[in-house]
Amino acid sequence: MSDATIEVYETEARQFPPSAEFAGAALANDRSLYDEAEADLEGFWARQARELISWDQDFDQVLDWQLPYAKWFLGGKLNISYNCLDRHVEAGKGDKVAYHWEGEPGDTRTITYSELLDEVSKFANVLKGLGLQSGDRIAIYMPMIPELAIAMLACTRIGVAHSVIFGGFSPDAIIDRCDDAQARLIITADAGYRRGEASALKVNVDAALAAGASTVENVVVVNRCDTDVTMAKGRDHWWHDLMADASTDCPPVSLDSEHLMYLLYTSGTTAKPKGIMHTTGGYLTQVAFTHKYVFDLKPDTDVYWCAADIGWVTGHSYIVYGPLANGCTSVFYEGTPDTPREQDRESDDRASWSKDRLWDIIERYGVTQLYTAPTAIRTFMKWGTSELEGHDLSSLRVLGTVGEPINPEAWMWYHEHIGGSSRPIVDTWWQTETGGHMITPMPGVTATKPGSACSTIPGVTAELVDDAGNVVPEGGGYLTISKPWPSMLRGIWGDPERYQETYWSRFPGRYFAGDGARLDADGYLWLLGRVDDVMNVSGHRISTSEIESGLVDHPSVAEAAVVGATDDTTGQAIVGYVILRGGNEASLELAEEIRQHVANKLGAIARPKAVFIVPDLPKTRSGKIMRRLLRDVAEGRDLGDTTTLADASVVDDIRAGAAEGE
Ligand code: PRX
Repeated sequence: MSDATIEVYETEARQFPPSAEFAGAALANDRSLYDEAEADLEGFWARQARELISWDQDFDQVLDWQLPYAKWFLGGKLNISYNCLDRHVEAGKGDKVAYHWEGEPGDTRTITYSELLDEVSKFANVLKGLGLQSGDRIAIYMPMIPELAIAMLACTRIGVAHSVIFGGFSPDAIIDRCDDAQARLIITADAGYRRGEASALKVNVDAALAAGASTVENVVVVNRCDTDVTMAKGRDHWWHDLMADASTDCPPVSLDSEHLMYLLYTSGTTAKPKGIMHTTGGYLTQVAFTHKYVFDLKPDTDVYWCAADIGWVTGHSYIVYGPLANGCTSVFYEGTPDTPREQDRESDDRASWSKDRLWDIIERYGVTQLYTAPTAIRTFMKWGTSELEGHDLSSLRVLGTVGEPINPEAWMWYHEHIGGSSRPIVDTWWQTETGGHMITPMPGVTATKPGSACSTIPGVTAELVDDAGNVVPEGGGYLTISKPWPSMLRGIWGDPERYQETYWSRFPGRYFAGDGARLDADGYLWLLGRVDDVMNVSGHRISTSEIESGLVDHPSVAEAAVVGATDDTTGQAIVGYVILRGGNEASLELAEEIRQHVANKLGAIARPKAVFIVPDLPKTRSGKIMRRLLRDVAEGRDLGDTTTLADASVVDDIRAGAAEGE
């Protein structure tokens, strides 16, 4: 890791107090959870498991650790849907709102805990009626509608493992995932609303089933958009038909703590996605714990909103399982942040639409916690503060960010413009594999530094190591987790060798997260991104995210992506792509100025070989920048598969611009 960058942040950055006063934090200035976990790790997690979760049968062993396989809360039995629903209804909270759901066109549904319990019980009976039983796997390929959460919870009620496939994926992805998991059923919808239009889903399932996924016996289809679909007789069933006669009586099945709860596929270094396995007791304990303390939850009054998609782990843990286990009220939104409700659109001309949907939702529901991603925050920066005008965001108490390193500039913008310069920001580092938060500040406890994820949560131990595996007490290194944690992945479905190889071989005895990080003199962690995104320029390691921070530090730059392009002389050369903030004109002079700005800020080694000003960046539908494509453009290669791009024309624009700039 390069040493120069973070020091710049450190010396420049103010340190923000823990904001206990504003957040009214449960943990105000209280480090007792950290102390307790440090003194007795297993005792600490056992207490959380018993306090936050209801067990049908108490566990008799907290942890069984046979590296790299962990089992948590052995002997314990529980049911996830019981924990998320029944127990709140039994406690008299049946009328409490579980979800304020809002569709992209502006239609809404308010779902209480008792209504959700009824729907989940009915759908669990539907699943049983289709022959599914504990231990089976099914796939879910749905838009962000309540039936998605209902389907997941219904699985957990009867011990069926779900594999949610992000709605933006192609038929091939459905085939790969269904084949790998031997899924017996797919739950889908005709379509979902996205960017003002009905985006078809069922046709992709049809295409997948025509070409493969031969283990799938049945398809259940929600009618979301009333679009035309073909229903295969005997195989395809309408959700509403099956639910019409279903009984609300479906007792939750008591499951072993280590019962397989879900698979979630994530990409690795090879083309074949990995089916990350999560199990029941440990997963629920850690997501409930982190959801409660990291968001400083006041379950009786909060209206919490995680603006992610349930197709990713963030939505699993922090839209469905954490918030429901804690009995809180959440907002659940179907669409994109820049699509106004139909009733708020003055014309069909997209360009004229306002981009204030998020702020409108926060204001209308009185949202208290907002959890989103740096890429979204930088997009809001690009749209400008005029979209915020007239919106009262004072209900917000805690702001969260996840998914990639947040640059200090975006952190400060979030803090100032959304957080009124007073709300704590929790920058949460974790992964599909970790199941729940691992590194994050705690409101009321941790003084934050803009751009730093700060430190591990109580009960998690992270260490940086160098190439040789030696612990790095200060400076840059590879991020490893040195002790098992309750919501850790239990393996890769069907591939124990790959599990061992990917996560536990690089540094024996340690979980290697694949990320680089830096520990500053105060013991704060600064995530530098995936080490596969680290460039090597003339023998110096430089993280793409470091350079990106340098680029977005220039006042004209709204967003940036950096790739290491092969270079005969220096090994790799840094190539930057930047989007300008509104009001700036693209020119070669400005590109040169931005290039120089990075050199001034980070040192000459960090000066990009080229900076291209582009109108947009190629992103996956989940918002991640596709650096591979940018690298292909930088190296003048033909582009490979671009089907996962949200907007394929973006690359052509960039290529045209790059050619012009040469
Ligand atoms: O590189 C880290 C980055 O996202 C990776 C995990 O991606 P995924 O499994 O898709 O899960 C994303 C949502 C949890 C990590 O290896 N990452 C995630 N959160 C942060 C982050 N990088 C820096 N800061 C974060 N807060």
